[in-house]
Amino acid sequence: MVKNIAVLPGDGIGPEIMNAAVVVLKSIEKVFGHDFVLNEGLIGAISIDQRGVALPEDTIDLCKAADAVLLGAIGHPKFDNDPDAPVRPEQGLLQIRKTLELHCNIRPVKIFNELKHLSPLKEERLNNVDFVIYRELTGGIYFGEKSIDSGFSSDLCIYHNYEIDRISHLAFEEARRRSGKLCLVDKANVLESSRLWRKRVGLIALKYSDVELKFLFIDNAAMQMILNPSQFDVILTSNMFGDILSDEASVLNGSLGLLPSASKGTKYRLYEPVHGSYPQATGKNIANPLAMILSVEMMLRDWEMTEEADSIIQSVSECITENLLTEDLNKKNPVTCSEMGELIASKIAKFKKELI
Ligand code: IPM
Ligand code: MG
Repeated sequence: MVKNIAVLPGDGIGPEIMNAAVVVLKSIEKVFGHDFVLNEGLIGAISIDQRGVALPEDTIDLCKAADAVLLGAIGHPKFDNDPDAPVRPEQGLLQIRKTLELHCNIRPVKIFNELKHLSPLKEERLNNVDFVIYRELTGGIYFGEKSIDSGFSSDLCIYHNYEIDRISHLAFEEARRRSGKLCLVDKANVLESSRLWRKRVGLIALKYSDVELKFLFIDNAAMQMILNPSQFDVILTSNMFGDILSDEASVLNGSLGLLPSASKGTKYRLYEPVHGSYPQATGKNIANPLAMILSVEMMLRDWEMTEEADSIIQSVSECITENLLTEDLNKKNPVTCSEMGELIASKIAKFKKELI
């Protein structure tokens, strides 16, 4: 199959994890006989440095012309510590999400048995943990009107019915494919916009009577995720709550470097790790590329390249079993970020041979 992929490495460890993912993609291409055409674009701090904007027009065009977008990471400390910066790297990410109308962000959370001992939680709490967060990605407080005045600032949290409805249908359908449980996380005891979520999701639930719907307030949900994470199956939530909950979920496995994500709209798709740009590790070849590589896996699965996607999962699992891991997961004898990409790539070739 011929596929055009827009590759946006971004900032910090972004280029390193992207290189590892590209090595994996090239292996898939060769082993399974595809033609992946990769085109690189600028986004984030690197784009601000080179072009003065966080998301240049040519990157938008590149993404629109592609079958999928792969994104590394975005962010640089020099902007984090400068609240008055006129342009910020994160604007690039928010803008690409909005421009491509990627309203549904899917963040699966699975526990690898071999890594349970590295989790900050007791091992027995991690049994049967397997859930997915459906995070609304183009609305809410991230995108509402902002105002800056002397003495106060504000960010409006606004949700329209249609924004809630479209992601809710996707989440209910996912719950149907999985174990039939959906949990809406909100703050409906305080926020009007959350009460609208409850209303709309309650109405939509009538069409999915086979799905068990539960509601949790965000503060309680954050606590439940630590106390008893296996209770969750599909979590549906707004932009901001989904951002916070998914970082919390990403440490269940013992490293931030393992969670992939897919962002979808009606026309475009973008795949990126849940973690950030990890500036302290930039250029050291120590970052964990697995979240990026697993994001590639999600992309292939969406293209119904099932065997290809399975070959990535199988290769990642083997690396975990063999403790061939980067230093976040193997302090004593780590592999580097680039080695990790190459290991997975060579295991993919072996996987295909075994199938024949
Ligand atoms: C994420 C990130 C982004 C977000 C930042 C980098 C703008 O934290 O994708 O989770 O808040 O959505
Ligand atoms: Mg985040």
